[in-house]
Amino acid sequence: MDINALIRERRSIRKYQDRDVPQSVLAKILEDAMWAPSAINRQNWQILVVKGEQKEKLVDIIANVNKYYKPLLEKMFPEKIANITLQYFRNMGGAPVVLLVYVPKIPVEIRPDMSSMVRFHSEHDRVISFISAAALIQNILLLAAAQGLGTCWMTAPKYVEDQINDLMGIDDLELVSAIPIGYPDQKPPAPPRKGNKIRWIGF
Ligand SMILES: Cc1cc2nc3c(=O)[nH]c(=O)nc-3n(C[C@H](O)[C@H](O)[C@H](O)COP(=O)(O)O)c2cc1C
Repeated sequence: MDINALIRERRSIRKYQDRDVPQSVLAKILEDAMWAPSAINRQNWQILVVKGEQKEKLVDIIANVNKYYKPLLEKMFPEKIANITLQYFRNMGGAPVVLLVYVPKIPVEIRPDMSSMVRFHSEHDRVISFISAAALIQNILLLAAAQGLGTCWMTAPKYVEDQINDLMGIDDLELVSAIPIGYPDQKPPAPPRKGNKIRWIGF
């Protein structure tokens, strides 16, 4: 599939087959994904690939996100869509593997009276680490889709990050996102894209 079609056809998958993903397939996806650009070429991401008993414990922790996310989802989406997402949080769609993407934990102080220069200076390292990790994650999503695998980029688990980090024995990293990965058991329609996002200047 050409890259344009791959980008358009990748979907967030919230229901997975009860089927293992070979470690070699995961390793190849992650190694290729790490050719993502990274600010100052730091590549300071860490990826935890979690399956088995630890994955079950992780999923149980993430199920607690429901109570924090419900009011937000109910405000933003029609009831049916909010319920599908809340149901998905209960077991992450049965995905056999969950990836956790981390960056170094960097303390940041932001106050409303800061100029943008002072603010950027304060949050520089955290911002560039997060943006770089996002490039890595998009690569993972696309490479997985190219292998017939489904994924769902998730930041909601950050609500329960402390419990996740305790389980994983992590104290010096910050969670960027969790990504369930597995063979899809659904073919969701593409949510429509919004127009009016590009301004052509000087054309
Ligand atoms: C930064 C980011 C965070 C997201 N967090 C969640 C999440 O916590 N839970 C979830 O179900 N989907 C999450 N998504 C997936 C979006 O809901 C999804 O990408 C969007 O609805 C468009 O659907 P598509 O990915 O199928 O094109 C996230 C996506 C991004 C980029």
